[in-house]
Amino acid sequence: MPTLRILHLSDLHLTAQVDSWFLQLGLYEVCDEDILRVLSETIYDWRDELDAVLISGDIATTGRDIDLSFAINLFSSTAQSGNLRKDFQSHYKFDDFGKPIIIVPGNHDRFRSIFALPGGFSFDRYFEKYWNCGNKRVQAHLLPNDIEPRLAIICADFSLKSVQHITTPTGHPGQGKVDDTILQYLIDKTKEISDSFAECAFIWMIHFAPNCEGHFEIGKNHSLIDYNKLIEAAMDTNVKHIFCGHTHMSEIYSEGNGRVNIFCAGTSACLPGTEKQDKRDPKIHVRDIEIDNGKIIEIRSLDIPWDKDLRNFQVS
Ligand SMILES: [Fe+2]
Repeated sequence: MPTLRILHLSDLHLTAQVDSWFLQLGLYEVCDEDILRVLSETIYDWRDELDAVLISGDIATTGRDIDLSFAINLFSSTAQSGNLRKDFQSHYKFDDFGKPIIIVPGNHDRFRSIFALPGGFSFDRYFEKYWNCGNKRVQAHLLPNDIEPRLAIICADFSLKSVQHITTPTGHPGQGKVDDTILQYLIDKTKEISDSFAECAFIWMIHFAPNCEGHFEIGKNHSLIDYNKLIEAAMDTNVKHIFCGHTHMSEIYSEGNGRVNIFCAGTSACLPGTEKQDKRDPKIHVRDIEIDNGKIIEIRSLDIPWDKDLRNFQVS
């Protein structure tokens, strides 16, 4: 029975401008430099144990050139853009891993300005090597290979296309929306792979945690609008597992009367700013996915929190 081991990260919030006035206002959570260094070392050190690294969105703090160029430089040493944060040095790049790095954009990656206007598309240019599905916003990855895949990770970007889709009275940009066209692409891609590879199991990866307002202490400001359409589609296509992030808190829960399991990753790089232990403390998640005959039999998860004293991720 094959088991695939993946490292699930989320919400890195990479930024080139830690000292800028709008970050000082505390409107955005941003990455910690020590954590970024340890993350890149960990991915490299564990390269023989892992089959893939998954990052479920909010890779950059905003979708502006200054943040995206810093973000891509942490991924790839061959990035064309200059690293605008000259004081930050990382010994390893994520690419040194040498195996699939699977990503999906989040709402922050699509912010066109510091005022969090949704609808940006610069992310697609900077991260073309990892995210190259254009307007379809759905991308599939086959593991361990394309010839004899055991697992398809199909990613869909439900970031708001326009400010007009925000449903809160305050116009908060933390929401996502299950767009009907993107959802249909996701369904079509799932059926296409299923028809080609009978032995292949499925996981969907999105940024926004479905029904997060029902499972976390966060309100509609961060909701995935029309999440029920996604859950119904997952049940219709027999997809039982969805990976996500966005909440900065980790949780495994179910939707669709227990028929769809949601694996929500916490932030892997943002410190919540309190000295006390906090459920928003950074974590990384090792997930062992056991597959048999085209079905996921079990997903075993190990959450590894950031130890503020040891400055490392430590199993507690
Ligand atoms: Fe987010």
